[in-house]
Amino acid sequence: MEKLLQLQKITSEEARIFVFEGEKFDFDVKRIYFTRDVPVGQIRGHHAHKTLQQVLLCPHGAIRVTLDDGLGNKESAILDTPEKGLYVGPALWRTMEWLKPESLLLVFASQNYIAEDYIRDYDLFLGFARNQFK
Ligand code: TYD
Repeated sequence: MEKLLQLQKITSEEARIFVFEGEKFDFDVKRIYFTRDVPVGQIRGHHAHKTLQQVLLCPHGAIRVTLDDGLGNKESAILDTPEKGLYVGPALWRTMEWLKPESLLLVFASQNYIAEDYIRDYDLFLGFARNQFK
C-alpha cells in the first residue's frame, strides 16, 4: 500500500536541490498545493478520495502519514526528509499528523479540486473500499 519515492539530491556547498525526474510516479500533475502553519500534534486528513492520486512531500519538518485501505491494512510513514515522497492512490483513508513546528506538507495531485471526489465519512469509505475490490 505504502509507496515511498526517492528524490534525486543535488548537493553543493551553498544548497541542496531535490528533484523528481522521469517515471517516478505515473500521473500527470494537475494541481500543486501545500499546507503550512499547522500546530504540532494536529491531525489532518480524515478522508479518502475516490479517484485522486497524490504524492506527498515534507520538504521541511516531520509529518506522520497513516494510510488505511479499509480492508484491515493500516500503515504509517514518517516524512521527515526532503528526499522522500509518498505516493497515495485512491481509496485510502489518510491522516497526517504534524510532528514538528513549521512542518510543510507539499502535495502533487492528479486532478483539480473536486469536492465530490472526497469521502469524509469512515463508514461510507469502508463500503467504498469493499466494493472497489469485489
Ligand atoms: P482538506 O483536503 O480536507 O485538508 P486536509 O487533508 O489537510 O485535512 O481541505 C481542507 C479544506 O480546504 C476543505 O474545505 C476543502 C478545501 N480545499 C480546497 O478548496 N481546495 C483544495 O485544493 C484543497 C486541497 C482543499
